[in-house]
Amino acid sequence: MSNHALENAAKVLRESRCTIAFTGAGISVESGIPPFRGPGGVWSKYDPAMFEKHYFKRHPDEVWPLLKKIFYDMIGKAEPNPAHYALSELEDHGKLAGIITQNIDGLHQQAGSQQVYEYHGSTRRMQCMDCRLYFDSPTISLDRLPPPCPACGGLLKPDFVFFGEGVSSDVHYEATALAKQADVCLIVGTGGEVMPAGRIPYIVKNRGGTLIEINLYDTGYSYSTSDYYLQGKAGTRLPELVREVLG
Ligand code: APR
Repeated sequence: MSNHALENAAKVLRESRCTIAFTGAGISVESGIPPFRGPGGVWSKYDPAMFEKHYFKRHPDEVWPLLKKIFYDMIGKAEPNPAHYALSELEDHGKLAGIITQNIDGLHQQAGSQQVYEYHGSTRRMQCMDCRLYFDSPTISLDRLPPPCPACGGLLKPDFVFFGEGVSSDVHYEATALAKQADVCLIVGTGGEVMPAGRIPYIVKNRGGTLIEINLYDTGYSYSTSDYYLQGKAGTRLPELVREVLG
């Protein structure tokens, strides 16, 4: 990455009235959580059709062991990395209005970020498909799968969006409202391949805003949409950028 691009991107951030970050799985790779696509991606090992809502409801005994292995055992051990802390520092200095994340790992909050919109939900909660009650995941034992609802014995589902399931209208509304106020959007660790989440940067762009992308590999944003493309690992590039902004 040329220092020229870094310096210009930092200048845009310093002068920005309202900056948001749109993040995806790539920002958590250096915390030990694999991405969904690309080398070592989850979808190159597991069939995403297993994580379709109706399939899950018909075959909970088959799907729950995978949910535990992929989303609970792995995420449970993960810690925020320098990229998460860099966004938290930007917010602490009043230079980041909020993060719209597709991630369900809770690492932005663990790194100290306050304004986080979890567009695809979170592994930190579960909801019973029968009585509709919510539970904090740490209170639910995964020794027995599927874990029975503590209230009615029904089927518990992690509170993140499965394929074939809509995004929560509340978080969609709040995230969209925030994006409409932004004049700069940082795109970090996502190719925006899943909709409607992937549209967030376009909301900013279409209103005259500036897009600063940090990704390891080229994405659909890189050469047609992003104004700045700082290629590389988020754990390296984002702290570099934030240091350049905050001095
Ligand atoms: N640093 C920065 N970017 C990285 C890194 C890294 N260390 N490693 C990978 N990336 C980038 C890749 O370039 C890629 O663009 O992160 C992106 C990962 O893409 P995906 O795995 O598709 O992740 P994401 O875009 O968040 O997926 C969106 O798809 O399966 C659904 O619901 C799931 O929220 C997820 C959605």
